[in-house]
Amino acid sequence: MIYSRIAGTGRYLPDRILTNADLEKIVDTSDEWIISRTGIEQRHAANEDEFTSDLCVNAARNAMESAAVSPSDIDMLFVGTTTPDLIFPNIATIIQHKLGIPALPCYAIEAACSGFVYALSSADKFIRCGEAKKILVIGAEIITRLVDWEDRNTCVLFGDGAGAVILEASSNPGVLSTHLGADGQYQKLLYYPVGASTNLAAAGTADASIMMSGNDVFKVAVRTLSEVAKEALNTNKLSLEDLDWFIPHQANLRIIQAAAKKLNMPMEKVIQTVQIHGNTSAASIPMAFDVGVRDGRIKRGQLVLFDAFGGGFTWGAVLLRY
Ligand code: UT7
Repeated sequence: MIYSRIAGTGRYLPDRILTNADLEKIVDTSDEWIISRTGIEQRHAANEDEFTSDLCVNAARNAMESAAVSPSDIDMLFVGTTTPDLIFPNIATIIQHKLGIPALPCYAIEAACSGFVYALSSADKFIRCGEAKKILVIGAEIITRLVDWEDRNTCVLFGDGAGAVILEASSNPGVLSTHLGADGQYQKLLYYPVGASTNLAAAGTADASIMMSGNDVFKVAVRTLSEVAKEALNTNKLSLEDLDWFIPHQANLRIIQAAAKKLNMPMEKVIQTVQIHGNTSAASIPMAFDVGVRDGRIKRGQLVLFDAFGGGFTWGAVLLRY
């Protein structure tokens, strides 16, 4: 039986940091409001000359180094992102070329904040069926480019970054199970109104920015994150006590706390980075995982649950033994 396991992790955050005090100068907000409603203290924002693929390349190099693999060892590439460099070619091909990886299948997956979990789940299947042995899986975003910097409802929430893992074939599990879902009836609660075939002329104007009904998103996010987490544990006949680390999508500290409460999960088992990263969409889970691995909290053999939720709505969980 072939399983997949995470061999190495990496992350990259742009140098530029925007604190809540910086945002107080741009919109009518306060450090007190942002922290009490979201937990966010700062976020990173890419400079104009940085593209999402640049963030990915740095995170990927980090992950390859920690897994001790070289570009020629990689035989497939998956990238979850909502903010690719271009409409085409797909961002994974751009990253493949920048990293000097020999030609290979390149997948870009758009599932908003669930993008990394969708990508990881897909990569796991290719390894299990024997079609690939080492896959580079990235979640990345320059989501600050989609934000209206005059809209205090959204501009305080988001940040940029990239997280990456090397997934490799193994005779021991690794990834125990993956659980994906989506329901397009919720599109209007969270979306970006410009695409290749819709409203393209509005790109770059004030009409092009993230549209969000924050309260409604909040409620569905809490419910869905707890439901899919339970589904992952039940499938494997495991309980919350068995779990060492819970890594939910980092959108809002209150969402994370509410989901953890619904699951009876002590906050000590929850990796939290939203305070310093903001909501980095598809990058949030792999970056939080890398933080926990590199600071020594997450150890080999421990049971970890990734739990994602995002626009669509899309959602997904991955239960794994690190
Ligand atoms: O990855 C998934 C993507 N999105 C999310 O997960 C977002 C989910 N939703 C949330 O995180 C929260 O709903 C928000 C943080 C967006 C908002 O928090 P809230 O506690 O739901 O606040 P609210 O929307 O009910 O707004 C309360 C008040 C409003 O004023 P009035 O109408 O009561 O006078 C807002 O205008 O807070 C006001 N407000 C702000 N005030 C200061 C909204 N944004 C700000 C701000 N600074 N940045």
